[in-house]
Order: sequence, then structure tokens, then C-alpha cells
Amino acid sequence: MEERDLTSLKNKYDIVGNDPALNYALDIALKVAPADDLTVMITGESGVGKDIIPKIIHQNSPRRSGKYLAINCGAIAEGTVDSELFGHEKGAFTGAIEMRKGYFEEADGGTLFLDEVGELPLATQAKLLRVLQSGEFIRVGSAKVLKTNVRVVVATNRNLMHLVSHGKFREDLYYRVSSVHIDLPPLRERREDIHLLFRKFSSDITEKYFRTGVMLTEDAVVLLKKYRWPGNVRQLRSVAESISMLETAKAAPGKGRVVIDAMTLANYLPREEGNTLPVLSDHGSQSSMSEDEKEMFIKILLTLKQKVDALESVVYGGKQPVSVTPSLPAASEFVMAPQAQDLREDPDEQIDEEPARKEAEDDTKTIADMKDDLIVAALRKYGSKKAAAEALGISERTIYRKLKQLGIK
Ligand SMILES: Nc1ncnc2c1ncn2[C@@H]1O[C@H](COP(=O)(O)OP(=O)(O)O)[C@@H](O)[C@H]1O
Ligand SMILES: [Mg+2]
Repeated sequence: MEERDLTSLKNKYDIVGNDPALNYALDIALKVAPADDLTVMITGESGVGKDIIPKIIHQNSPRRSGKYLAINCGAIAEGTVDSELFGHEKGAFTGAIEMRKGYFEEADGGTLFLDEVGELPLATQAKLLRVLQSGEFIRVGSAKVLKTNVRVVVATNRNLMHLVSHGKFREDLYYRVSSVHIDLPPLRERREDIHLLFRKFSSDITEKYFRTGVMLTEDAVVLLKKYRWPGNVRQLRSVAESISMLETAKAAPGKGRVVIDAMTLANYLPREEGNTLPVLSDHGSQSSMSEDEKEMFIKILLTLKQKVDALESVVYGGKQPVSVTPSLPAASEFVMAPQAQDLREDPDEQIDEEPARKEAEDDTKTIADMKDDLIVAALRKYGSKKAAAEALGISERTIYRKLKQLGIK
């Protein structure tokens, strides 16, 4: 397919990405669309973007003026699946007060998308094979053979061959539906598309809600690309949308985009089992860190340290402005192993003696005491439980409990 056609297809269907495997999938979809008796099988993990393919196939086929129905086979109760797909006669079972057409009858002349086809019970699979081979089907509770002319596209996030070998999917049906196979690779195998997709989902939402846009730091982009994305594009979309709504909630309009650093992003990425940081999950927990990962790791630790410094300044009354989400220093600054002071916003700032004296005194304090001090100091500084809780990154409830415990009103 020509580059131009591909671009216009993506524009039309709001598809973002340039990965060769994605382009290949779209190309195959367009090529098989006109051959409207061919069944197509789409595979790929959950959230990779399978849903759009059958729509493209339908709308670019001679059936485009016919019906398009998408059915999630995994969402139908096992007892009613035959009746849903093939219909039933009045009185076929308790509750069948009227004759009802099934999807195969409804979609006559059109396209039926059977999502999660691997979930169909074996008895239904036999009926599906029959209708695919001959167009024939029977309504539940009837003996009359009816005919329909439906193109079927199936999708699955399971390994159907594996189901076949375990007797859970009919082998003959497998060969019938898999004559054309379109596979969408997981997002982690399309790294170059990840940032593009993030920007798309983020700008969609900020435009819709008139929010300030967001911009990822270089480190955040590295993390975004390294993360394993078990929920694929669906998960990326939800992360991009949450960040774009939540992180811009307090941004003053017209002040430029809100900068999202790796630490902030990491808060939105669920930890995966066996991994402490999402960034380390790429090659499994056995392997050692790559240089990139090490650098990221160090930066995250440094950002944490900056936060601690900033919070200390609240406790000890330092004059430097408190920023709870400091931006990361540029990579080059790490080469020289900076002292803590070098990370302050104003290195020339006078360090007064007061904090030093306090520090000595604090040596005898327990961590718990310091935590109490921190909460009280943050409350003084911010004047409200809510603001203090936000600055400390703890819940308002924790503050409330602490105050009660300390007997402070
Ligand atoms: N290449 C893409 N460009 C834009 N949005 C995409 C892309 N791939 C997936 N999406 C979006 O991601 C979400 C999940 O896709 P979906 O097709 O429902 O996944 P699947 O059916 O494979 O589980 C949807 O909101 C979809 O619009
Ligand atoms: Mg789907």
C-alpha cells in the first residue's frame, strides 16, 4: 500500500503509530476487505487495538452498506450463547416469550465481529463452523434450517492453537477461521509508537477539557518506553488521560505546558510483581540493569533526595522555596557527583546557622518524632490539612489521625 493511503486510513480511523507491524496489519486488512467471503482472525493481547480492524474490513468491503455487529463472546452467559448467535423460537425455553432473531440472522448481508471467540463453548463452535461453511443455522427450539450471508471476523487474545491442543477449541474451526491471520504485537514491541500515542491521548483530553497541555521530560520518555505495558494501548491511554487531568488540575492557564518528570510518571504505573520499579521490568528480574536503567534509577533517587531536602527545609525553616515536584537536573550534572547544596535552587544562598544547631539537637530524635515535626511544620506552613497532606504526599486522614494522637486541635 502506498504511504499516502496508509496515512489517510490512519487519519480516518484515528489510529496513531508508525510501527512496521501495525502498518502491515492495516495493509492486510485493506487487502482482504474486498474478498468478502474470507473469514479473518485477529490476534493480540488485550488492549493492543484489535477492535478497529474488523471495522476497517467491513467499511472497505462490498458489504459496507450492510450491518456491522460486534459481539463479545466472552460476555455472553454460556446458557444463552446459542440463542444470542442463532436466535430462538417462541417457547424454546422458559422466558422465550417471543421469537428472537440471532446475530447471524440480523447481520445477513453484513459483517459479524466475534470478539473473544476462544470463549465459545464447544457445542456452539460446531454451529459456528456450520454457518461458516454453508451459511446454514437453526434457531434454538426450531428444526428449520435457515440461511444467512454473513462475513465473520474473529478476534482472540488467547493462543487458539494451545486451546486446540487442550481440546477446548475445535481444530477444524481453527483452520476455518485462521485462513487470514492479522496479528497485532504488544505495545512493548512497538516502542517507537509509545510516546506518539501518549501525546495523542494526552492532547485529546486536554483539548476536550480546556486544560493546559503536558510535556514529558527526557527521563519520563525513557521510562514510558521501558515500561512493560501489560495492558497495552488501553493502559497507556488511561495513564495519559489520568496524568493530563490530574497533573494539570492546578496549572495556571497560559503558563506553558505542565512538565511531567519520571517520578511523577512512575506514580501512575502500577508496580508489577517481583519488580520494585516499573523501569526494571523490561528484561525480567534476573538480568542486570542496563546503563540507561542505571541512569534512570540514579535520577529517581536524586529526585527523592531533593524532595526530602525540600521537606527538611519546611521543618528546619530553611529559606529555599519548597517544590514537591522538582524538575530533574540534566544528565550531565550527574557526572560530577554533586553535593547536596549543588542541587538547591540557589547555590549562592546563605546557609544560616539555625538549621545546623537544630540538626545537632535532632540527632536524639526518633524517626517517628521527626515525622510528627514534619506534619506540624507542614500544617503551619500551608495552613490547611489538605495542602499539608498534598505537600507531604500523605492522606488527609493520616494528618487528622496524627493531630488527634498529638492532641492538637
Ligand atoms: N494505534 C492506535 N491508535 C490510537 N488508539 C489506539 C490504537 N490502538 C489502540 N487504541 C485505543 O486503545 C484502546 C484499546 O483498544 P482495543 O481495540 O479496544 O483493544 P483490544 O480489542 O485489542 O483489547 C481503545 O481505546 C483504542 O481506541
Ligand atoms: Mg477488543
